[in-house]
This record gives sequence, C-alpha cells and structure tokens, in this order.
Amino acid sequence: MSELSLSFLFLLFISTPFKVISQDINAERDVLLNFKQQLGNPPFLQSWNSSSSPCDWPEINCTANSVTEVHLHDKNITTPIPSTICDLKNLTLLDLAFNYIPGEFPALYNCSKLQTLDLSQNYFVGPIPDEIDRLSALVYLDVGANNFSGNIPASIGRLPELQTLYMYQTQFNGTFPKEIGNLSNLEVLGLAYNDFIPMKIPQEFGQLTKLSFLWMTFTNLIGEIPKSFNNLTNLQHLDLARNNLEGPIPSRLFSLKNLTHVYLFKNKLSGEIPKVPNPLKR
Ligand SMILES: *[C@@H]1O[C@H](CO)[C@@H](O)[C@H](O)[C@H]1NC(C)=O
Ligand SMILES: *[C@@H]1O[C@H](CO)[C@@H](O)[C@H](O)[C@H]1NC(C)=O
Ligand SMILES: *[C@@H]1O[C@H](CO)[C@@H](O)[C@H](O)[C@H]1NC(C)=O
Ligand SMILES: *[C@@H]1O[C@H](CO)[C@@H](O)[C@H](O)[C@H]1NC(C)=O
Ligand SMILES: *[C@@H]1O[C@H](CO)[C@@H](O)[C@H](O)[C@H]1NC(C)=O
Ligand SMILES: *[C@@H]1O[C@H](CO)[C@@H](O)[C@H](O)[C@H]1NC(C)=O
Ligand SMILES: *[C@@H]1O[C@H](CO)[C@@H](O)[C@H](O)[C@H]1NC(C)=O
Ligand SMILES: *[C@@H]1O[C@H](CO)[C@@H](O)[C@H](O)[C@H]1NC(C)=O
Ligand SMILES: *[C@@H]1O[C@H](CO)[C@@H](O)[C@H](O)[C@H]1NC(C)=O
Ligand SMILES: *[C@@H]1O[C@H](CO)[C@@H](O)[C@H](O)[C@H]1NC(C)=O
Repeated sequence: MSELSLSFLFLLFISTPFKVISQDINAERDVLLNFKQQLGNPPFLQSWNSSSSPCDWPEINCTANSVTEVHLHDKNITTPIPSTICDLKNLTLLDLAFNYIPGEFPALYNCSKLQTLDLSQNYFVGPIPDEIDRLSALVYLDVGANNFSGNIPASIGRLPELQTLYMYQTQFNGTFPKEIGNLSNLEVLGLAYNDFIPMKIPQEFGQLTKLSFLWMTFTNLIGEIPKSFNNLTNLQHLDLARNNLEGPIPSRLFSLKNLTHVYLFKNKLSGEIPKVPNPLKR
C-alpha cells in the first residue's frame, strides 16, 4: 500500500466517530428531500433544500439532532404518501390531516416508533389493513373524515399504547370489533357517523376503564346499552344519540362520578331514567 492510501485510511479511521452525528442528519435530510420530490416538489416545501438542516425547516421537529416530527397539516398535498418517509428511524409524529391525499392506507409499517398518526380529512379509500397492529407504538390515531370502507379489523385491539382512536365519518360499511375492549389505555373513542352493519355495543367496551370520551352517534347501534357501562369509571362524555338502542339505561350509569355530558336522544330506550344520587354534592 502506498503511503498516501495508508494515511487516507488512518484519517478515515480517526474521523469516523466524530462524523456520525452529522452524517445521520444528512441522511435524514436526503430522505426528506427525496420525499419532497415524490410529492412533486410542491411550492410549500420551498424551504426544504440541501443547504440547511432539516431541523430548521418549519414543518420538522428534531430531538437530539434527529428528525422526530413531520407536520404537514393543511398543505394541499394531492399525491399518495411514499413509505420511504419511514426511513426516518426516529419518527414519532406524522400529521397529514386536511389534505387531498388519495389511495389506500399508507404503508408506514417501518415507522416503528410512530406514536401519533393523523390522516384525518383526506381522500383515503379502501380498508383499514389488518397489519395496522404493526404500528405498535401508536398512542394517537385519527383516520376520520375519509372514505375508508369495509370492517374495522380486530387487530386494532393489539395497539397496547393507544389512548385516542378517531374513526368518525368515514364510509365503513362492515363491522367494528369487540377487541377494541382490549385497548386498556384508551381514553377517547370516536366512531360516530359510520354506516356499520347494525350491531350491539360489545359488552367488552365496559373494560375500557380509562375511557373518558365515547362518541358513537349515528352508527346503527341496536340492542341494549351493556350493563358493563356501569364500570366506565372515568367516563365524562357519552354520546350514543341517533341509533336504534332499546331497553333500559344501566342503573348505575348516572352514578359515574365524572360523567358530565350524556346524549341518548333518537333511540328506542325504555324504562325509567335512573336517579342521580346526591346531585348537589357532585
Ligand atoms: C434554504 O432554506 C433555508 C431555510 O430552510 C433558507 O434560509 C435558505 O435561503 C435556502 N437556501 C437556498 C439556496 O434556497
Ligand atoms: C414542534 O415545532 C413546532 C413549530 O416549530 C412547535 O410549535 C412545537 O412546540 C414543536 N413540538 C415539540 C413537541 O417540540
Ligand atoms: C435516533 O435517535 C437516537 C437517540 O436519540 C440516536 O442515537 C440515533 O442516532 C438516531 N437515529 C438516527 C438515524 O438519527
Ligand atoms: C392550496 O391551494 C389553494 C388553491 O390552489 C390556495 O388558495 C391555497 O393557498 C393553498 N394552500 C396552501 C397551504 O398552499
Ligand atoms: C421496510 O424496511 C425494510 C428493511 O429496511 C425494507 O426492505 C422494506 O422495503 C421496507 N418496507 C417498506 C414498505 O418501505
Ligand atoms: C368519498 O365519498 C363521497 C360520498 O360518498 C363521494 O362523494 C366522494 O367522491 C368520495 N371520494 C373519494 C376520493 O372516493
Ligand atoms: C362497502 O363499500 C365498498 C366501497 O364503496 C364497496 O366496494 C363494498 O362492496 C361495500 N360492502 C358492502 C358489504 O356493502
Ligand atoms: C382481545 O379480546 C378478545 C375478545 O374481546 C379476546 O378473545 C382476546 O383474547 C383478546 N386478546 C388479547 C391479546 O388480549
Ligand atoms: C365490572 O367490573 C367488575 C370488577 O372488575 C367485574 O367483576 C364485573 O363483572 C364488571 N361488570 C360488568 C357488568 O362487566
Ligand atoms: C375523574 O376526573 C378527575 C379530574 O378530571 C380525575 O382526577 C379522576 O381520576 C377521574 N376519575 C374518577 C374515577 O374519579
């Protein structure tokens, strides 16, 4: 080996550890610039260029000099989302709400740290895929106001961290699964305005003891409100209006300490309205 190549190797060796950090962020910039190109170089991403750090771009948030959040809310995006965005290995938040994104649920399964995914108010169609449980870090999922159809898959019950699930006002024309009752961290569930096959509320929903907000207006519910709802100790807001529910209201529902808003109008409920114990002391 010549002296030159030896000293080159030596330099490469000693300089490598010091370069790692900036190389990672440069690689992440390349991922984002490639993503920008796949979106057709839209004018609103003008500030994404190769002479600045992505951490300085308005739509991007970084933690420890690595991209963690991509905010593309209300940006006029009209193309499908390329799954290469998941080459950002530390991505925890992807907000694509209020765009015109067409096509099926995006294949984001390599986004293994993704906690917040907002796809609401777009033009998505087709089913929610069974593989949704591969996004196992999800805490917040909003797919509302799209044209998704079919069933909500049972695998949705295998998102153990999930706290908020919004699937309102899409075009679901199948069923929703009782496995939602397995989401032990769930606080907010919004399934309203969907033309589901007429179904009873699964009694398993009564296991959702952290649930504070349940919004199931206009979802073709039939049968009775499950007695297990007496166990929803954190419930604050219950909206089951505009369904075909019948039978009595569970006896202890109005004894739930935190319950402040109840909407049950336009149903076929019967029996007495349960007494509210000590209303003045609440
Ligand atoms: C690159 O983008 C930054 C902001 O992200 C901007 O200040 C700078 O002027 C841009 N440079 C070029 C060459 O467009
Ligand atoms: C992300 O960035 C936006 C604007 O740059 C800022 O308002 C927001 O607080 C940041 N979020 C976090 C979690 O750092
Ligand atoms: C992801 O974050 C970790 C911890 O902050 C960091 O060590 C790693 O280099 C980051 N990965 C990339 C590709 O930047
Ligand atoms: C989206 O497009 C409309 C019409 O082309 C334009 O008026 C609006 O400013 C655009 N919004 C953004 C965020 O680029
Ligand atoms: C996910 O990552 C693997 C390995 O990095 C890659 O082979 C695969 O194509 C990626 N899948 C998608 C949908 O991007
Ligand atoms: C979504 O559904 C609405 C109502 O059925 C329809 O008017 C619209 O064309 C659909 N959009 C897409 C992108 O499928
Ligand atoms: C549900 O809607 C989709 C999309 O509009 C349609 O292809 C499918 O046939 C519908 N299924 C049922 C059971 O109505
Ligand atoms: C989820 O719930 C179903 C029925 O509601 C149950 O049979 C199943 O064992 C549960 N799965 C897990 C992983 O807890
Ligand atoms: C309510 O919770 C208690 C304690 O976890 C349980 O024993 C009971 O079966 C539940 N009631 C209903 C109707 O599910
Ligand atoms: C009710 O709400 C309060 C305040 O929001 C909260 O601290 C408490 O944990 C909730 N649950 C119950 C069962 O009181």
